[in-house]
Amino acid sequence: MRIILLGAPGAGKGTIAKALMESGGSVQISTGDILRNAVKSGSELGKRAQGYMERGELVPDNLIMEIMESRFQAPDCEKGFILDGFPRTIPQAEALKQLLQKLNLRLDLVVNLDVPKEVILGRLTTRRTCSNPDCQEIYNIKSKPPTEDGKCTKCGSSVVQRDDETEEAITKRLETYNEKTAPLIDFYHREGLLKTITSTSSEEIVSFIRKTIGSS
Ligand code: AP5
Repeated sequence: MRIILLGAPGAGKGTIAKALMESGGSVQISTGDILRNAVKSGSELGKRAQGYMERGELVPDNLIMEIMESRFQAPDCEKGFILDGFPRTIPQAEALKQLLQKLNLRLDLVVNLDVPKEVILGRLTTRRTCSNPDCQEIYNIKSKPPTEDGKCTKCGSSVVQRDDETEEAITKRLETYNEKTAPLIDFYHREGLLKTITSTSSEEIVSFIRKTIGSS
C-alpha cells in the first residue's frame, strides 16, 4: 500500500503506521523520526532542523523535500510506504505529487485521522517513545505503558519523553497544524484520495484502512 496518514500531532499517525507496517509489507516513513535521529546524531541535517523542532515550528520545505527525494529511492520503499508526518504543507503536497509522477508511483489513499482536541492534548503529555532509533516504539503511560523500570518491551532500551513535548511546543505544534497542514484535507479531497475516520480506537482505524485499500 502507498498511503498518507494526515492528522494533528497526537492523532495517532505513528501508532497506526507501526501497526500497519507490522501486518503488511509497506514501510513507515516518518519525517519526524528521521529529523529526531538527525538531531540526536548531530548531523548537518540535524543542526539545521533542531531549532525549528524545539519551537514546534515546521522545518523548511526544501530541506524536507531533499530528505524525501532520496528516501523514496531506497529499496525498502518498493513494496509500498506509509507516510507519517509528510506532507505537512501545500508546497510539500505539490512537490510530492510531482515526485511520485517522476518515479511512476501512485498513491492509494490519504487517511485523515480525526480525533477530538481534548483527547489529543491528554495523549501528548502522556506519550513516551523508545530511545533506540531502530525501534522507536510508541508508549503511553496511561494506555500502553513501558516496563515498570521504563524500558521498551520490544528491545529493552530506555523509554523517554520527546524534547518537543513541553506545553509551549505542543501548543505551537497544534497551531502550526491548523494553519499549515489542515488545508491538505481539502487538497486531497479534491484529488479524490481522501477518507476521514473519526475514532479513538487504533484497531478500528487499522481495520478501516485495510478494508478501504482492499476494496479500492
Ligand atoms: P512529528 O514527529 O511528525 O510529530 P507530530 O505530527 O506532531 O505527530 P506526533 O508524533 O506528535 O503524533 P502522532 O500522530 O504520530 O501520534 P502517536 O501515534 O505518537 O514531527 C515533529 C516535528 O518535526 C514537527 O513539529 C516539525 O518541526 C518537524 N517535521 C516533521 N515532519 C515535517 C515536515 N514534513 N515538514 C516540516 N517539518 C516537519 O500517538 C500519540 C500518543 O497517543 C501516544 O502516546 C500513543 O500511545 C497514544 N495513542 C495513539 N493512539 C491511541 C489510541 N487509539 N488509544 C489510546 N492511546 C493512543
